[in-house]
Amino acid sequence: MSSVGVSKLAISGGSPAVTLEHQPWPIAGDLEARWMDEVVRSGPWSWVGPHERAFCEEFARFIGARHAMGLSNGTVTIQTALQAVGVRPGDEVIVPGLTWVATMQAALDIGASVVLVDIDPETWGIDPAAAEAAITERTRAIVPVHLYGCMVDMDAIMDLARRYDLKVVEDCAHQHGSRWRDRGAGSIGDAGSFSFQQSKILTSGEGGAITCNDDEVYRTAFALKHVGWAPTADGEGLEAGGVYAHNYRTTEMQCVLLRGGLTRIEEQSRIRGENVARLTEGLARIGGPLRVARRDPRITRQAYYAVTMHFDPAQADGVDRAHYVAALAAEGVGIGVPYYPVYRHPLMNLQHPTSPIPFRDPALTQDYANLSLPNVERTCGETGAVMSHKSLLSEPEYIDQLIEGVAKVNDRLEAVREHFAAQEATE
Ligand SMILES: Cc1ncc(COP(=O)(O)O)c(C=O)c1O
Repeated sequence: MSSVGVSKLAISGGSPAVTLEHQPWPIAGDLEARWMDEVVRSGPWSWVGPHERAFCEEFARFIGARHAMGLSNGTVTIQTALQAVGVRPGDEVIVPGLTWVATMQAALDIGASVVLVDIDPETWGIDPAAAEAAITERTRAIVPVHLYGCMVDMDAIMDLARRYDLKVVEDCAHQHGSRWRDRGAGSIGDAGSFSFQQSKILTSGEGGAITCNDDEVYRTAFALKHVGWAPTADGEGLEAGGVYAHNYRTTEMQCVLLRGGLTRIEEQSRIRGENVARLTEGLARIGGPLRVARRDPRITRQAYYAVTMHFDPAQADGVDRAHYVAALAAEGVGIGVPYYPVYRHPLMNLQHPTSPIPFRDPALTQDYANLSLPNVERTCGETGAVMSHKSLLSEPEYIDQLIEGVAKVNDRLEAVREHFAAQEATE
């Protein structure tokens, strides 16, 4: 039994198991402050300045891709990448049913039909067999989303792409630096899409990047985010790129923050990786309903935007996930739940006039309102749990306290059940 096993649950007025604080996020230092000061005083502030150029080179090297370019967020990166690899209005794009709304919206906004498919119940990545079953003669691309602390089976996805002649845009909003068989997430498919929004492990507050290996995809994507200006062959100038495009540019200030973040990310990933190994081992040792998702041995480096976790109701003595998570939160163990099924997300109001959907031929559009993908439903509704990377940069003692907090709740599941039953009875 754990050392806190005999103390009162924090939901019932006991002392929380976790007394240490986790590291704050985001983190920046003197380097960014100095560069930012120089940029603010002397410019340039945008339009492919020196920090943007340097960042793109450094990020491409970090990911292991031939090219990288900065954009304004991780939504327009998906949209731009899909267009750059050749997705056109009316094409079908296969997307997992569990992802952030942006992945689906980006494809809808360029006129594609999004076909949502089920996920692998262990990793929550797109299920390759479900993706294969959804392929039609109109399918043009697949968007594997490497969600939270796992990667999609890229061997299976690239095999599908080869056999059916499909394009692959990896959504890497959660995977800055993860590697599949030593190849960086974002360098395996035809293009990679990254978000640098504030919660991400490489951040500039807002921002995004596209990575790719093909020169033509690079040129087209660059023009699509730069109001149509494409890089000249020598890379030194700009020329009209012949596309209909928008301004999705990044700024020098964003690139200063990103370059600073890149100087720390490998060390931070190492610490997070060690802490996840400690957490995985600790939770396995104490047993109970909560465990960390199994890591595919083909992943040679896992960046942890979050830890993917599984809650097993059969081992929870009648406590459901919401009450279990609430009891953990009271102990100071911060665990969240995954996104909604994307086809039912409250922010995904496809019937509103601002949505492209009402103007679409319903025959070409999946019946999202009546969709129910079993693994997505179970993960979102009952079994999925996530721990943010913010808990992972701290000392091992903090991780040990998290494990103690879980052990404390696991030891008292009956008390948790009774606590919430009594609460509901008085409501
Ligand atoms: C999986 C996924 N894709 C895309 C995005 C969109 O990124 P952004 O918020 O930078 O537009 C996010 C944001 O959280 C995400 O989680």
